[in-house]
Amino acid sequence: IPRPPRPTFSLTLEADDHMAAEILEQPEAATRLLEEVGGRIATGALWNDLGLPRFDRMRVVACGTSLNAGEVIGSALSRLGGLAHSSVVASEAAGSVVEPGTLTVMMSQSGETADVLRALDESPEGFPVLALVNNVHSTLGRKVDAVLSCSAGPEIGVAATKTFVCQILVGTGLVISSLVASGRMDTAQARRLVNDLYLVPEQLAEAAAAARALLPPLVDEVRGAKGFLFLGRGAGVAYAAEGALKLKEITYRWAEAYPAGELKHGPLALVEQGTPVVVVDDGDPRLAGNIAEVRARGGRIITIGRAGSSIEVPLSLAAPCGPLAAVVPLQMLALGLAVELGFDADKPRNLAKSVTVD
Ligand code: G6P
Repeated sequence: IPRPPRPTFSLTLEADDHMAAEILEQPEAATRLLEEVGGRIATGALWNDLGLPRFDRMRVVACGTSLNAGEVIGSALSRLGGLAHSSVVASEAAGSVVEPGTLTVMMSQSGETADVLRALDESPEGFPVLALVNNVHSTLGRKVDAVLSCSAGPEIGVAATKTFVCQILVGTGLVISSLVASGRMDTAQARRLVNDLYLVPEQLAEAAAAARALLPPLVDEVRGAKGFLFLGRGAGVAYAAEGALKLKEITYRWAEAYPAGELKHGPLALVEQGTPVVVVDDGDPRLAGNIAEVRARGGRIITIGRAGSSIEVPLSLAAPCGPLAAVVPLQMLALGLAVELGFDADKPRNLAKSVTVD
């Protein structure tokens, strides 16, 4: 039976939705941000200028995409500095234990999310709170001990894209800077890591080019799927979560993200012939076994990452923020499918850019 004509699938610069423009603007936003803060990371000044006390552990409090960005930053702190981190869903933060020496980082692109503001109001007294926001004059930005901007510029699309990338970049810069300032990292290592951050704009641009060339047939193949799985390992897990969140937000398809090792503990039961399983492949050798498990059950594997993936993106293995460039094809997969299905990505049903109710 012939299919009815569909809107032309296009992920072009001419796309008239804000989300497409914001995805494609990410290399530029990252460049601007790095020009602003890059020179102050390895000297420790980015941290020192905030005037906050030295900390021994980090607690990130956030919602949605900001929470995923917070997970990337927290894991960078643990990996690079050996310090503990936790990520707390803002709406569940009440009553969570805050140990001495903790820095709380409240992340919110809008700085107006009610769940985050409530978590701040209910935070125990006497612990420093840093806000990482896109608008330093927001309610959150005004109420905390110190504020850092992710400087992404205005973001109109409800589904966050460039603010996610910029939160990760400035947050990772903050982590490196704080480790230098506290004597836990030497300047030479910090400089090497900053050089890795400077590669990010180009990596984002290359990832977008690869996705534009390779995604259309993949989107066509999975357009009828009811549900998707997203898998990653290590720093890739937070990106898998972000890919699933984008898909849910704008295509109204079920999407679950899991650390790949958890596949065998439940989600593998969901995989049947044709189930799309998107893998953020940062080169972890254990992923091959997970991929084979899915293939054996007829799942449609889409890998994003290292050489040989369905969509290859540049990854520096030592990169302090993990496989960041993989997020671009993930965002474009969600957008491409939304366009294909005829949905308005800028105005997803039931959702708002900034949720100011509990
Ligand atoms: C809403 C938006 C999400 C966003 C979340 C947190 O749910 O739809 O895209 O990630 O709020 O927003 P925030 O402004 O606090 O980062």
